[in-house]
Amino acid sequence: MSESEWQVARRRKGQTRKCKSQVPLSSPSVHEQLDVEKVVKRIRTTVTELRCEEFWPKWKDELLMATSASASAEEDVTEEQLKSRDDPPECVCYGLGSFSSCAAARYQLAMLLLLLEVLQVSLKNCFVYDPIFSSGEQNVLRELGMTVLTENEEGKRPVTKPTLFYLIHCGKALYNNLLWKNWSIQGLSQLLMIGNSFNGMRERTTERVFKQEYSYISKAVGLCEEKTLPCPPRMIDVFSDTAVITFPRHILLKEPQVNWAEPHEPEYRDWQDLEIILKAQS
Ligand SMILES: C[S@@+](CC[C@H](N)C(=O)[O-])C[C@H]1O[C@@H](n2cnc3c(N)ncnc32)[C@H](O)[C@@H]1O
Repeated sequence: MSESEWQVARRRKGQTRKCKSQVPLSSPSVHEQLDVEKVVKRIRTTVTELRCEEFWPKWKDELLMATSASASAEEDVTEEQLKSRDDPPECVCYGLGSFSSCAAARYQLAMLLLLLEVLQVSLKNCFVYDPIFSSGEQNVLRELGMTVLTENEEGKRPVTKPTLFYLIHCGKALYNNLLWKNWSIQGLSQLLMIGNSFNGMRERTTERVFKQEYSYISKAVGLCEEKTLPCPPRMIDVFSDTAVITFPRHILLKEPQVNWAEPHEPEYRDWQDLEIILKAQS
């Protein structure tokens, strides 16, 4: 197998507001009020806006470089090469938030659409889930062509092919669960993540809690490559602390076998502070 599951072939290198707390839109009247066509149009306008942003080409380049997923890679994957893959990759988006009412979430959704275009992921192969989505928002996502997941996986989704996980500003438990479920050389090498920097999480969390409660993120810090994605000051609430994260095989292969054996399912002591909505609550 090649250095990275994401690697196909290589060539030579060449102010919005964030919703701080998001309340589930459970009232049926709120759902009914959503004008799906209008929201779709607004998202498409936001895509056009982002495409003209100076930081967009940089995101695109970082993403293409990350698909090479190798510390020693001197060559990047081209968009043309991505098009000719036999096994098209998938995307899973967790925790987008209430994009019909929150500008930060709308910009994140628009960015996701641009990223899917670059990675040549078909919209139906993009699986989206947030327990706070209203039925109107689910309709918007379906109208865009995406697949809306109906089950709360708590991030415990095993990958079977190269998969982009897009989870911006999500709770650490979501990342930790995802890493646990894919805790193997085969699993991690197929993950491409766009989300919060693991190094940033480590800096903001006490060492004891980070190691005990989020042990998979803690271990992943030493196994991944993280590239911070640029974020203009006016977009700080939308894309702050966002990085593209990969797990190059040459790094994973250096890890002693014993560290892959029987990974234990995470257990969290402090459910109050978990920052994710559990299956039982959704
Ligand atoms: C801090 S908000 C971030 C929202 C948005 N991405 C932003 O940056 O404004 C965290 C999001 O994770 C979502 N979330 C919580 N539990 C989840 C789960 N089990 N699966 C997917 N998303 C979840 C919440 O509903 C919320 O929308």
